[in-house]
Amino acid sequence: MRTVALIVAAGRGERMGAADPKQFLAVAGRPLVAHCLDRFVAAGGIDEIVIALPSPRDLDTHITPHGPWPVPVRAVQGGDTRQKSVGAALEAAVGADMVVVHDGARPLVTVEAIREVMRRAASTGAAIVASICTDTIKEVDNGQVVRTLERERLVRTQTPQAFRADWLREAHRAAVRDRFAGTDDAALVERLRHPVAVVLGEPANIKVTTPGDLLLVEGLLRAARPPGTGS
Ligand code: CTP
Ligand code: MG
Repeated sequence: MRTVALIVAAGRGERMGAADPKQFLAVAGRPLVAHCLDRFVAAGGIDEIVIALPSPRDLDTHITPHGPWPVPVRAVQGGDTRQKSVGAALEAAVGADMVVVHDGARPLVTVEAIREVMRRAASTGAAIVASICTDTIKEVDNGQVVRTLERERLVRTQTPQAFRADWLREAHRAAVRDRFAGTDDAALVERLRHPVAVVLGEPANIKVTTPGDLLLVEGLLRAARPPGTGS
């Protein structure tokens, strides 16, 4: 079975407000997206990595200098939305049986989460990583609470998300056809009524969005590293 990781790193990082897109900013000495590549390679079972970038040239400018990785890494040009960037990477993943989609802005993904989401998708067809909800979530309209949702039934969706490649291709085609915009890939697959399994993961697998998140990730990466092992 051929498994391809699709890493989306083609956003502009507007909420970060830095000169470079956030996926290229260094934390613990490496660009955010390089941490993602490190972890996917360490997980094993990945035949190729396709990465969506603002321009394919960004591969040589921002990523290759931090390699090499023992898995082929290929760049494609992303689109003007995340969904289009995943679509572009998916088109480039020719011959894939399974694809694993991941945000290039989630550098704290664990090898265990990657392995488990792939394992579950291999048996069920689709699986996502999510964390439990510790806050109480309320539906609000116009500044007023409409209702309180049942927290035990809610999860916070993350990436990685793994799919049978034919399901995700079909789901992206249907979304284009129906002009459906989802905020994750599973939403596109759910529309086709395919089952999507949930793997519980770490709340620390945050999507770096603001400057404060960068500091948090820097701290977590340094804390995870045993003392005396360098920067
Ligand atoms: N992404 C992408 N193509 C886009 C938009 C987003 O590949 N057109 C990627 C981002 O690079 C990121 C992930 O999707 O890895 C999640 O998106 P988000 O956190 O929203 O990143 P940005 O869009 O870059 O940030 P912002 O919304 O603040 O501009
Ligand atoms: Mg965005």
